[in-house]
Amino acid sequence: ASIAHAAWLPPEALRAVASRRVLVMSDGMLAETAAQEIARAVAHHGGSLHRAADGGPFDLVLALTSADGLPDAAAMALAELDWRAGQDMLGAEGFALGRRDGVTVVLADGPAGLLYGLFHVVRLGEAAFGASLPIEVHCPVTARRMLNHWDNIDTHPVMGQVERGYSGGSIFWRDGGLTPDLGRVRAYARLLASIGVNAVTVNNVNVHATEAHLLTDRLGDVAALADVLRPYGIRTHLSVNFNSPAALGGLRTADPLDDGVRAWWADTTRQVYAAIPDFGGYVVKADSEGQPGPFGYGRTHADGANTLAAALAPFGGVVHWRAFVYNHTQDWRDRSTDRARAAYDHFAPLDGHFAGNVILQVKYGPIDFQTREPVSPVIAAMPGTRLAVELQVTQEYTGQQRHVCYLGPLWHEVLAFEPWGGGRTVAAVAAGRHADNGLTGFEGGLVAVSNVGDDPFWTGHPLAQANLYAFGRLAWNPHLDPAAVLGEWIDLTFTPAATADPGLLRRTLHEVMDDSWQTYESYTAPLGVGFMVRPGSHYGPDVDGYEYTPWGTYHFADRDGIGVDRTRATGTGFTGQYPQPWAQVYESAASCPDELLLFFHHVPYTHVLHSGKTVVQHIYDTHFEGADRVARMRSRWAGLAGLVAPDVDARVRERLDEQSRCAQEWRDQINTYFYRKSGIPDAHGRRIH
Ligand code: GCU
Repeated sequence: ASIAHAAWLPPEALRAVASRRVLVMSDGMLAETAAQEIARAVAHHGGSLHRAADGGPFDLVLALTSADGLPDAAAMALAELDWRAGQDMLGAEGFALGRRDGVTVVLADGPAGLLYGLFHVVRLGEAAFGASLPIEVHCPVTARRMLNHWDNIDTHPVMGQVERGYSGGSIFWRDGGLTPDLGRVRAYARLLASIGVNAVTVNNVNVHATEAHLLTDRLGDVAALADVLRPYGIRTHLSVNFNSPAALGGLRTADPLDDGVRAWWADTTRQVYAAIPDFGGYVVKADSEGQPGPFGYGRTHADGANTLAAALAPFGGVVHWRAFVYNHTQDWRDRSTDRARAAYDHFAPLDGHFAGNVILQVKYGPIDFQTREPVSPVIAAMPGTRLAVELQVTQEYTGQQRHVCYLGPLWHEVLAFEPWGGGRTVAAVAAGRHADNGLTGFEGGLVAVSNVGDDPFWTGHPLAQANLYAFGRLAWNPHLDPAAVLGEWIDLTFTPAATADPGLLRRTLHEVMDDSWQTYESYTAPLGVGFMVRPGSHYGPDVDGYEYTPWGTYHFADRDGIGVDRTRATGTGFTGQYPQPWAQVYESAASCPDELLLFFHHVPYTHVLHSGKTVVQHIYDTHFEGADRVARMRSRWAGLAGLVAPDVDARVRERLDEQSRCAQEWRDQINTYFYRKSGIPDAHGRRIH
């Protein structure tokens, strides 16, 4: 195994805290974790850790609001907090942070808040110890901030060990069993705690034969992982196979309404909780891409989900039931089937039928983690269901951690989208909040597919760590500015202040990363049409790769035009799944946003966009420009020589070379394809093959 880099928590990132006198007033496992974190860091930077208030004065106090004998500054901060909003405002995970009388104070109602507060002080660095800071309250928008690992125990012949993983093997599983390197898992848990992630699934949603046994005879391995994750406030969840009662239990059916099947789930789940008392629950991919599910028994997805939910309910567990259900064996000749419609068609009619501990986990777009998709209409269609929104940190369709593609801006856009045109955002729906912030009673949460593996840089491309960081931060607070989040990550990871040219380092990283999602979009599939990637691997260009396949991902380019007609008037009717104003905005090519035009409309190449360009000229321009932008990224990075650790530098350079090659390949294949289809030359006479 290779030694893992410290990612965004190298010792230097803790200098401001750890060179000072720090008091921690709390017990409880998570407060102990915080104290140990400080103890390790002060040994490095010369500060000190104190556990009792009598050894003052202190520079930093982390204390429970219920602690007796708070130092004066903390007592003042607490009084101000109480005066402002009364008790109980911080909740299980929130904290208040401020600076009084030269002391920085973190107050929390529970130890989790102290741990999160500590990492916030780390993020602030010296700024946490400057002039007086007003008391600010920090609470996560949702209690459920989860990462799904698509990790297998065994190595799959086609997918490798981690499905859609681009960072080596699994950090949880090795050589057919639990990893011997639990220190690595602990280091991962620490990184996740620092960004507020509090739940993890440890195996792939496609639950293969070996991994199915994690639920029963291999449960001890899951318990061992849970033991490592727990001190960091992370609950362990498991992906389970819907057929388990038959495959593992020897029953002749997995029919969710069969009494024997219900009893099997209840009994099996009881044993899970006996081994892991704070177990989070199950994640289920059912009737999807070949996985078994309730349809196989003539039952609905509510029947299926509710049976598992009933087994978990006595223990406080939840079922994350995925809405990614569609026909993956469709006939490409069949123009009436539209994959984009599938999740809504299957699930919207079931609104109100799911048990209270079922969370329907919905991908952010109606297709599949594309670079650009409209927000899934399911998110607005199920007011009586707990909905979690699923994002993809692993860059399956966004360059596979060979390309720089900072996804913060994409997620920010998704989370801030207003499905009803005003008032509530996607983030509010997931958090179970009304527009006025009141609770709806239907909290789902935010979930993402992790991009981490046993690679020394954690994520293959060292800059892809920023995506993991941003997911956690945005899941905690979706209102954060993605460029500011990136700035935090840069400061923690590269500690510019300790280098010869902090300004250059920060500026260059922002230049390379801030707009890298738009850059990626500009040289890949145009105007929201999606795919055009190589079938199977999903890496690199192949314009017609999926055009005559059963997967339901078509662009319908012919000599006259391109795009998918999803209108009510003449197409698949998908636009009708949206509430107003979007149902109308998307219905008309005149009002549809340019970046989604080809998702909703089939238009001639000469169609004029809002930008004033024709579709085909837009394709040429963006593809030439996109490849040029990558070339600029590469030379900018080269200007950092000496400011970045040599191994990180070497890895990034190697990846930028590949990104540059691949972007040119995209440019040339896409431009050539559309030139040949349309016969329309580039207005600027650039080279098309
Ligand atoms: C995509 C991906 C699969 C994955 C699936 C899912 O289709 O290519 O590898 O299993 O999403 O989300 O379940």
